[in-house]
Amino acid sequence: MVTSAVPSEGKTTTVVNLALALVDAGQRVTIVEADLRKPKVTKYLDMVAGVGLTNVLAGTAEVGDVIQTYGSAGLSIIGAGPTPPNPGELLSSRHMSVLLENLRDENDFVLVDAPPLLPVADASGLASAMDGVLVAVRYGVSTKDQLRQAAMTLQRVQANTLGAILSIVPPKAQIASAYGYGYSYEADSTAGRGKRRA
Ligand SMILES: Nc1ncnc2c1ncn2[C@@H]1O[C@H](COP(=O)(O)OP(=O)(O)OP(=O)(O)O)[C@@H](O)[C@H]1O
Ligand SMILES: [Mg+2]
Repeated sequence: MVTSAVPSEGKTTTVVNLALALVDAGQRVTIVEADLRKPKVTKYLDMVAGVGLTNVLAGTAEVGDVIQTYGSAGLSIIGAGPTPPNPGELLSSRHMSVLLENLRDENDFVLVDAPPLLPVADASGLASAMDGVLVAVRYGVSTKDQLRQAAMTLQRVQANTLGAILSIVPPKAQIASAYGYGYSYEADSTAGRGKRRA
């Protein structure tokens, strides 16, 4: 599952690109669009947004009725479906666990595009059912405090947090000057050795 502390940290883009890379590498992959309040996977891939996960969880459709295939390599997508009044409840339901188990059997990777952790409890309810959780962190925007709170939320539900993905890094960010080019050495009269400055 890919989540983040707050909205707009690059979760959906990460899920879609990761899925496309894995499919290119010959893996069987299904994306589950679990951000039921702000679904974007189908939009980014120019697919039908009408029916999906919420229909399956409500028992009004079968997975086979709502699953879509993207591209010739066969990336499978389960779109969010209509926004329900109780996203958190649906995502942490037994029905959702059973669905994930079935998808696990049929895929090499099931990638879940989750909502952010701090504004609502939807993602934390889902996190403990995942093999692993990645946290998207937006360059120059996400704060340490938000990330700390997100990590604590995941810890509280005993999720297996795999790590963070730094996303939306501006191409001309002055990262280069911070790593590698910004060192200078000057004489340190007391120790007689060079002193490093970043
Ligand atoms: N690597 C990137 N480089 C540049 N822009 C990006 C990158 N990744 C995402 N974006 C842009 O940033 C915005 C947010 O990205 P995205 O929708 O993937 O984030 P999100 O965390 O899923 O957001 P939400 O919380 O709304 O679901 C979008 O406009 C997207 O096009
Ligand atoms: Mg998103």
